[in-house]
Amino acid sequence: MDKEKSTRFMLKVVGDVATAMAAGLLVVGDQAGLFKCLSGAGPLSAAELSERSGVLVRYVEEWLAAMAGAGYVEYDAATDRFTLPEEHAQFLINPESEYYLGGLFGSLPGLLAMAPKLAQAFKTGSGISFAEFGAGMPQMLEVMNRPVYEARLVRHWLPTLPDVVARLQAGGRALDIGCGTGVVPLTLAKAFPAASIAGIDLDAHSIDIARGYAREAGLQDRVSFLAQPIEDLATAPGWDFISTFDVMHDLPDPVGAMQRIRASLNEGGTYLMVEPKVGDDLQTNLGNPFARMFYGISCLHCVPQSLAQGGLGLGACWGEKRARALAAQAGFTRFERLGIRTAGLVFYALGVGAGTAAA
Ligand SMILES: C[S@@+](CC[C@H](N)C(=O)[O-])C[C@H]1O[C@@H](n2cnc3c(N)ncnc32)[C@H](O)[C@@H]1O
Repeated sequence: MDKEKSTRFMLKVVGDVATAMAAGLLVVGDQAGLFKCLSGAGPLSAAELSERSGVLVRYVEEWLAAMAGAGYVEYDAATDRFTLPEEHAQFLINPESEYYLGGLFGSLPGLLAMAPKLAQAFKTGSGISFAEFGAGMPQMLEVMNRPVYEARLVRHWLPTLPDVVARLQAGGRALDIGCGTGVVPLTLAKAFPAASIAGIDLDAHSIDIARGYAREAGLQDRVSFLAQPIEDLATAPGWDFISTFDVMHDLPDPVGAMQRIRASLNEGGTYLMVEPKVGDDLQTNLGNPFARMFYGISCLHCVPQSLAQGGLGLGACWGEKRARALAAQAGFTRFERLGIRTAGLVFYALGVGAGTAAA
């Protein structure tokens, strides 16, 4: 036994647990308004932060110590004051910002609470359905993704597919599969007033929320939402543009789903598949913090919910090589990786025949 290696590992586990604790306390700081009070305020003592936030000073002292230990706030021992640098604040304080990471760390309590149930599932080989993750799951995903989709879908992502833009401007039809609370269909409906837009999702609770948002936005006549699994989607041509955002790897039968999508596209139509951005092999992914996080989410959520549908449990980290292979198996003859630079997502445009190349 290598004693130094053993000590290094023990310290690593303690350090990982410390980071996990601090990550949980990010949620507390976010919800109690502590980050907002620290942001732009310069160095503050615990008492000053307590006064600004209205949080009991003893809680603030302990929270700041944990945050300083994790490197989330900076501590000046000479003045006993704490600073939230602006480089950190941009990711922590504004839920409407596309840079906000609160959706990620906000998912931790709910996902980690599933660990005992997952351990049971490991023993029995059963899955855990999307609904079993709790009524808060759809909106948790929305907090994670909405600001990014709203900021980038129409302005940066779709312009790489000029034919799709032209068809939607001319009154084409778009379908988002696994639409969750409807962010993608509603964003499309606002940008393309002549187009007909629909969203489907297996989860009825997500669809209820999406319908509520459509009514609030006065879009209920132009966007339809249906609680329906992709396995029940009619396979006749009817859509100029079909999208899945962070969905394909969750489906029980990805090749079958892609076949269905292919059969549902109008001639020259485009399927946009958005997936977590990872490499093709584990060794490459181990060096990438995004991929390491995706493996965690995949093990805690994606794989068990796919298994619960009697599926393969493809997992979130399947890479471009496999995506190309499964798309070809499903009969797509066009597969382009779009040149969109977004840290955690990869974009594939699929079609049949010559189609229209991406910009
Ligand atoms: C990770 S979430 C992504 C939600 C949304 N597209 C987004 O990007 O925020 C995956 C979604 O796929 C849905 N889903 C899972 N299996 C499905 C199926 N067989 N048919 C349709 N939707 C499904 C889930 O209910 C969930 O809303």
